[in-house]
Amino acid sequence: MMPESPRILVIGYNAFDITVPVDRFPVPDSKAEVPFVKLGGGGPGATAAVAMSRLGAKVQLVTPLTQDAGGLIQRDELMAAGVDLTGSVVFPEYACAKAVILVQPATGERTIFWSRGDLPLLDAASWESQWLDGVDLLYLDGHEPDLSMVAAREARARGVPVVLDAGSVRSGSEELVALCTDVISSSVFALQLAGSEDPLEALTELRKRGPKNVAMTFGAEGVLALAEEPFAIPAFEVEVCDTTGAGDVFHAGYAFSLACGGQFEYNLTFGAAVAALKCAHWGGRGGLPLLADVQEILRSGQTLPLSARFHLS
Ligand SMILES: Nc1ncnc2c1ncn2[C@@H]1O[C@H](COP(=O)(O)OP(=O)(O)O)[C@@H](O)[C@H]1O
Ligand SMILES: [Mg+2]
Repeated sequence: MMPESPRILVIGYNAFDITVPVDRFPVPDSKAEVPFVKLGGGGPGATAAVAMSRLGAKVQLVTPLTQDAGGLIQRDELMAAGVDLTGSVVFPEYACAKAVILVQPATGERTIFWSRGDLPLLDAASWESQWLDGVDLLYLDGHEPDLSMVAAREARARGVPVVLDAGSVRSGSEELVALCTDVISSSVFALQLAGSEDPLEALTELRKRGPKNVAMTFGAEGVLALAEEPFAIPAFEVEVCDTTGAGDVFHAGYAFSLACGGQFEYNLTFGAAVAALKCAHWGGRGGLPLLADVQEILRSGQTLPLSARFHLS
């Protein structure tokens, strides 16, 4: 794979995560003591930026920043991870976006309550062409549609691949999909967009809208992908404690591998390896691997059975 240290521009969301392990949901109006509460940076774009930086990419993240306690902690975390925040706009009067995440340790399943509050969207007028100079890949999480659209158009004109982490359908999603080369959907996005209950039908519809490579992730059940033909990629078997951020980090691994010149199927497998290593740790950014750790699990890791839902012969 080449280049060794790709340059990646990320436009997306950051949030302050409060993670609470809960064995089971208590009845309303009761109290439950928990073993710990974990605080730290989260949000799809920001977590992907940290993950790709750790893998060895040079990453610039354009995201809204705040100066409240949560916002300052996040900025420090991003800077400590080596993420370049040039172009990120500071909104001094606003509170940072936040998420309260309840994780069931037995399965690692997470339930998320999140709010962007009244934090403004980034303005398309703040786009600077030079951010794309020397960039190997543009990475979008769909949370900043206005700025992302301008960036994606220019990236395509320059022949730079554009990857969309498609979590849920929101304002601007349809236009953005059409501007991307690679769209990796959650288990819901493609279904919502296509108005279908069948994953392969939804992927076929998604691909008709423009992107060359599309896929949907289904947690431990693997990934259904479609380029010329459909195929599936299994998840790696790890001792799971928290699946928060699995999708963010999967997309990060996928994009890193693509920016290094990897092929579609390999990039998905690489993403699955990065995500599995994260799932063995607490927090959306726990256990983010170095390149060597990913290469090791790719070499020796065991995989889980694929979902029967994929119906592939
Ligand atoms: N329990 C798990 N064990 C191993 N890998 C997992 C597990 N959960 C998620 N992953 C990996 O992370 C990827 C994304 O996870 P998924 O749960 O689909 O995303 P999201 O974060 O959107 O819920 C999966 O395709 C898989 O490769
Ligand atoms: Mg999941």
